[in-house]
Parts: sequence; structure tokens; C-alpha cells
Amino acid sequence: MVLLSGSSYIVKNGRRNGAAALFLLLLVLSSSSSSAADVPPPGNQSVPSTVYFSSTSPPKNMMMMPRTTTTGRRKKRRLQQQMSITDHFGALGDGSTDDTQAFEQAWSRACSSQSGAVVHVPPGKVYLLRPITLAGPCKSTVKMLIAGTIVAPSDPDSWAGLDNRRWLYFHHVNKLILTGGGTIDGRGQRWWASSCKINATNPCRHAPTAVTFHRIKQLKLQDLTLRDSQQMHMAFNRCSRVAASRLKVAAPANSPNTDGIHISSSNNVIIEYSQISTGDDCISIVGNSSNVHITDIVCGPGHGISIGSLGKSNSLNQVRNIHIDGALISNTKNGVRIKTWQGGRGYANDITFHNIVMRNVSNPIIIDQYYCDSKIPCQNQTSAIKVDNISFIGIKGTSATKDAMKFACSDTCPCENIYLEDIQLFLDSGEDTTAYCWKASGLSSGLVHPPSCLSVTNGLVIEQNIVIDNAFHPMEK
Ligand SMILES: *[C@@H]1O[C@H](CO)[C@@H](O)[C@H](O)[C@H]1NC(C)=O
Ligand SMILES: *[C@@H]1O[C@H](CO)[C@@H](O)[C@H](O)[C@H]1NC(C)=O
Ligand SMILES: *[C@@H]1O[C@H](CO)[C@@H](O)[C@H](O)[C@H]1NC(C)=O
Ligand SMILES: *[C@@H]1O[C@H](CO)[C@@H](O)[C@H](O)[C@H]1NC(C)=O
Ligand SMILES: *[C@@H]1O[C@H](CO)[C@@H](O)[C@H](O)[C@H]1NC(C)=O
Ligand SMILES: *[C@@H]1O[C@H](CO)[C@@H](O)[C@H](O)[C@H]1NC(C)=O
Repeated sequence: MVLLSGSSYIVKNGRRNGAAALFLLLLVLSSSSSSAADVPPPGNQSVPSTVYFSSTSPPKNMMMMPRTTTTGRRKKRRLQQQMSITDHFGALGDGSTDDTQAFEQAWSRACSSQSGAVVHVPPGKVYLLRPITLAGPCKSTVKMLIAGTIVAPSDPDSWAGLDNRRWLYFHHVNKLILTGGGTIDGRGQRWWASSCKINATNPCRHAPTAVTFHRIKQLKLQDLTLRDSQQMHMAFNRCSRVAASRLKVAAPANSPNTDGIHISSSNNVIIEYSQISTGDDCISIVGNSSNVHITDIVCGPGHGISIGSLGKSNSLNQVRNIHIDGALISNTKNGVRIKTWQGGRGYANDITFHNIVMRNVSNPIIIDQYYCDSKIPCQNQTSAIKVDNISFIGIKGTSATKDAMKFACSDTCPCENIYLEDIQLFLDSGEDTTAYCWKASGLSSGLVHPPSCLSVTNGLVIEQNIVIDNAFHPMEK
């Protein structure tokens, strides 16, 4: 039973089957009709009640931002400057004329507005943007109301002489809002074709992350579609207080490294009510990230939800307080995963995976401390990221392989305090699944199938008390 009590909740033994069944039903409904239509209509600021299926709501009222919705009541709002990328800055939006300069000018005007500004990107048009940097600090809140479609040059040569890791690059902004129901299309097909992951004779090189947010504080994203990014779709790097909701991310299952949302060294991040299907992780969390709350996600195809990889090249990572609550993961290579390289330092602590439905997932639950994504086989090393206090609660559905649960932990730095409760994973055929453990200890409680293989630890008290500091809820009224 999950008891809500203010901004914390306590997990006890017990049932929440009613909620889980409802959750499953809603997820099935939402994903079986899966298409662009799954994201609620733009401009409708009320959340469809059918997407509330996780056991918690992120804490509310933890961050104050000027209201900028059309129903806002504050006087401050009236003073916001409204500007249109077409009417005021001459963007053509014909899909072939380069509109980069109009966006640069609009940004510069908006960013220097004392009262805050809303940049309108009108619907029904296609704006071609070259790689562009939109930098702060800004004088006040900047809001971009993207209703139209923004597209990238399809030819990688457009990046000649530029940083090929970026396309739309936002940095050093305090209070940034992007919404509007529009689409950001990376048109990554030619980048994919020239990837060394697609054809080993190609040289390995970086491809752009479609949208990067670097050192943004108080970032709100809502009602946007991202598609076919060159590499990752969206990355948060050293950001804090991020609230992303009702995003749709879509790229083909065979597009290389097209992670949906990548969270790196960021804290107080909420991601909710989003649907992600790509060729790589739906969501990946790396670096020194903490206080990340992910709820109500439909994921797949792709590689699932991943913490890591951590510890590459003996790096130091400190990841803690990550909570995934409410997800449907289908036809993915992994379900929920923690992956670390040998030789890393630091920890991955206090992580919970709750209320997750798996459908035909190859490794539904996996901790892999031997992750090695390099052409040269990785050497055995003695140091490792310490994996401690990880809970898997309410994880049900079908596995595409017999290995439904795998804990491959470090020889020298074993996983501790893994907690399993209410796990039911079977093969589609109804056949049995198995669990694999190496240097993994913890507890299991209630029905756990496949049966736990954890070695038992003493005295673990599971009492979740999850508080996300300073985050804000994008739907707050
Ligand atoms: C917004 O969504 C709610 C819930 O689905 C619905 O009742 C309402 O009619 C919608 N409003 C508009 C303007 O679409
Ligand atoms: C890989 O690229 C090489 C060189 O461009 C080409 O000759 C070969 O046909 C490609 N292979 C595949 C499987 O596309
Ligand atoms: C994490 O933080 C530590 C300092 O606390 C720093 O040394 C390390 O480089 C950081 N790691 C990453 C991946 O940013
Ligand atoms: C384990 O993690 C949970 C959050 O997932 C936290 O509330 C709890 O305090 C942690 N337990 C210990 C012993 O650190
Ligand atoms: C299940 O996953 C496997 C491997 O990813 C795939 O080959 C198969 O088509 C999937 N089955 C269904 C019913 O989607
Ligand atoms: C690493 O250790 C494993 C198991 O202890 C062993 O099977 C493997 O051969 C070792 N690999 C190397 C490169 O030493």
C-alpha cells in the first residue's frame, strides 16, 4: 500500500492491485491507439484524467514562476511582450528558406525584455533552422510558444566547421518555458545512415542532440513533439528544477543512439505523461544527477529506462534519489536498468522502480556492472560504482527472454539492499522465467516471480520517504 502523506510517501507491504489494474488498462488503451494522437491536444491546459496512473503526484507548489497561461491572473502577465517569429522577425516558415536569423533576433529581443516575453512560432508552417545557440542570461522569463514545426537541415554538411553535437542549444537561462503543441524534427536519416553503428565501415563521429538544455534553471516543457533526431532527442545537462510533461518523442526502432530524454548532472527533474519510442533509451540518467521523478511514461520500442551508463573511463558519478513510478514498457531491449562500467567510482543509491508494466521486454529488470560498449573488450577492474538501496516494486508483465531479472554486480563492490516486492514476470508462452544474481544481496517480500536469487541481508528497513526539493509541478493550479 502506498500512502500519500504530504510530499512524502511510505511504502509498506500490501496491495495496490486496483490502482495497478487501472493503470495497466489505461496504458494499454493509450498505447494500442499509439500515434501522434496520443499527446493531448495542444493548448488544453487541463490534464486528461486518464493519464493519472502512478501512485504519487510530484509535490506541488515548490517553485514559483510567473503564470503565463492564457488564464493567468497576475498583473505581471499583461506586461509580457508578445512577439511573432513571422510577423515581427520575418520568418517565412516555408520549410526551405533558412529562418535561423529570425529566431536569433527574436531570442535576443525576448531575452533582453525586462517584463518577460512570449515568442510565438505560428502553426501550419515549417521553419528551417541551422544549428543555433540561444543563450542567457535573460532579464526575465522567456516563453516560446512553438505551434508550428521546426526542422533541421537534412544534410550533415550543414554542420561543417560547427559543433556537430548540437542543433538547438539553450544555455544559461533562468526561467525558460517551451510549449505550444508543435514539433521539432531533426530529420536525422542521413546522420543515421552514416553512423558507425549502422555500418561499421563508417568512421565513428558525433551527431547532434536535437535539443540541448545546458545550465538552465527552472525549465518547463509541455506539449511538444520531437522526432527523428540526429542522435539524442533532448538532453538536460547541469539543469535544475525541470518539469517536462506531455512530450512525445518518436524515431524508428533502428535509428542509432536516438535516446529520448537524457538527464545528465541535473537535479530536481520531473518528467511525466510522456510517450517515447526511439532506437535507444527512452530515458537515460547519468552524471551526478539526483532527485529525478519520472511518472506515467509509455516507452517502446527502444532500450527502456536506464540509469547509466555510469563510471566510464574511471569517472566519478554520484546518482541518488531517482524514482520511476508508473510506466508501460513494451518491445524494448531492456526494461528498467542500471548499468555501470568497471573501474568507475561513486554510487547509485536510493532508486525506486514502481508500478511498471512490461510487455515483451528482453531484460525487464537488470543491473549490469560489467557494461562495456567499446570495440575493445573491457578489462576487469577492482573499483566500481557502489549500487545500494534499489527497490523494484510492482513490476508485472511479459519478458521476451527467460532472463527476466538479472543482477550482475561487481566482484569487489557488490550490490546491497536490493528490495523486490510484487514482481510477476512471465514469458508470453506462459513458461517460467529465471533470475540471475552475482554478488547481489537484499530482500524480497510478497509475491516475487521469478523467485528472488538475492543473498539475504540483515536489518534492512524499507521506508521510503521521497521528497523532491525545489521541483515544481507543471500542472500546478
Ligand atoms: C480539455 O481536456 C478536458 C479533459 O480531457 C476536456 O474535458 C475539455 O473539454 C478540453 N478542453 C478543450 C478546450 O479542449
Ligand atoms: C557500408 O558502407 C560501405 C562503404 O560506404 C558500403 O560499400 C557498404 O555497402 C555498406 N554496407 C551496408 C550493409 O550498407
Ligand atoms: C561528479 O561530481 C564530482 C564532485 O563532487 C566531480 O569530481 C565529478 O567529475 C562529477 N562527475 C561528473 C560525471 O560530472
Ligand atoms: C533507501 O532509499 C529510499 C528512497 O528510495 C530512502 O527513502 C531511504 O531512506 C533509503 N534507505 C536508506 C537506508 O538509506
Ligand atoms: C517480442 O520481442 C521480440 C524480440 O525483441 C521480437 O522479435 C518479437 O517480434 C516481439 N513479439 C511481439 C509479439 O511483439
Ligand atoms: C574477468 O573476470 C571474469 C570472471 O571473474 C573472467 O571470466 C574473465 O576472463 C576476466 N576477463 C579479463 C579480461 O581478465
